[in-house]
Amino acid sequence: MTYSIPLTHIFHVVGARPNFMKVAPVLRALGTRPTVKQTLVHTGQHYDANMSGVFFRQLGIPAPDVNLSVGAGSHARQTAEIMTRFEPVVSQRKPDVVVVYGDVNSTMAVALVCAKLNVPVAHVEAGLRSFDRTMPEEINRLVTDQLSDLLLTPSPDGNQNLAREGVAPERVIFVGNVMIDTLVRLLPLAVQTAPAGEKPHSLLTLHRPSNVDDPEVLRAILGALCSLADEMDILFPVHPRTRQRLDEFGMSRLCHKRLRLMDPLPYLEFLGLQNGATCVITDSGGIQEETTFLGVPCLTVRENTERPVTVTSGTNILVGRNMDLLAAEIRRILAGHGKIGSQPELWDGRAGERIANSLLERYAAVSAGAPIMAGGHNLFALAETSQ
Ligand code: UD1
Repeated sequence: MTYSIPLTHIFHVVGARPNFMKVAPVLRALGTRPTVKQTLVHTGQHYDANMSGVFFRQLGIPAPDVNLSVGAGSHARQTAEIMTRFEPVVSQRKPDVVVVYGDVNSTMAVALVCAKLNVPVAHVEAGLRSFDRTMPEEINRLVTDQLSDLLLTPSPDGNQNLAREGVAPERVIFVGNVMIDTLVRLLPLAVQTAPAGEKPHSLLTLHRPSNVDDPEVLRAILGALCSLADEMDILFPVHPRTRQRLDEFGMSRLCHKRLRLMDPLPYLEFLGLQNGATCVITDSGGIQEETTFLGVPCLTVRENTERPVTVTSGTNILVGRNMDLLAAEIRRILAGHGKIGSQPELWDGRAGERIANSLLERYAAVSAGAPIMAGGHNLFALAETSQ
């Protein structure tokens, strides 16, 4: 009698720029396991070459098996479009588990489809909470975590938040920060790519609706930075949403000549600039983490963060809407007194491996009649073949 080794079919769904840095290490880790078949789905939430294609190339992510090409839209329209287009794909291909990443609309839309079809969802970057329900990402986090079967957290606060919300502890695994895996792997290349003799600079990114959709708020932030640009070059790779707003509000020319607007940058170029920056000013979630890892002072233009370890252990300071505080903190950094941090636990470049192990522990496919070990291990992974 011959037993074939059953393949575990794992779907990964990504849609927006910050998802790409998170899926890459998981694809790589699972790619070495002979009993795994992987399918990569891109929802097309981000579609510009410089928001998506260049990240796939630099991060070594294979071309998606399926592209849903949903594009832009209101939250309801984008979410509905992803759900409508994803449902037949998952129904036909019947994966053992669908892995979703982060907190973007694609993450939540896919979790909702799977929950209705009884397909298990594993959420990478589970448990983060800003406790601010005016943020679309907070709604996406709450819904995704409620619907997920396996919750993989980047930091212990994630486990605490999920416990408080009544999630059974056996469904939650602290695996560490997978985006840092990508940073650890590619930092040497990013450093090589960085132009030699680069002048001291700070780096600015802004894209949160709360900062860029209101002309007064956006004007106040850029005004405060213009008044500091005499003292430093500020490089500002502009997110497409922010570019639209600057054009709409007639603000594209408001800036000081040392506040340099540029197109969104590829991963390696941006990482090189972050690593060499005197200071980073941002409203991004991932950049709060990357600066903490790099030991670069970060000023976050938000009232709260879903990544509190970057403040308690790392180099991050929340300045909120207080532009006087932003200016004071920048001056402190320029005077050489920026915040010094330490590395949070399990930001070690091995989270992708831990995620791969956790997925296979729970979802390894089992063929009919195959003996199962306690804890869900499939003995066929040990390649049993008898005649
Ligand atoms: C999304 C995520 C946010 C994440 C961010 C990273 C949600 C709710 N938000 O925000 O959590 O931090 O990605 O970038 O999922 N656009 C383009 N080209 C693109 C992508 C977008 O021109 O490739 C324009 C579109 O006109 C779109 C706007 O940018 O309307 C915003 O894009 P969207 O995906 O809706 O949200 P982001 O602001 O990018």
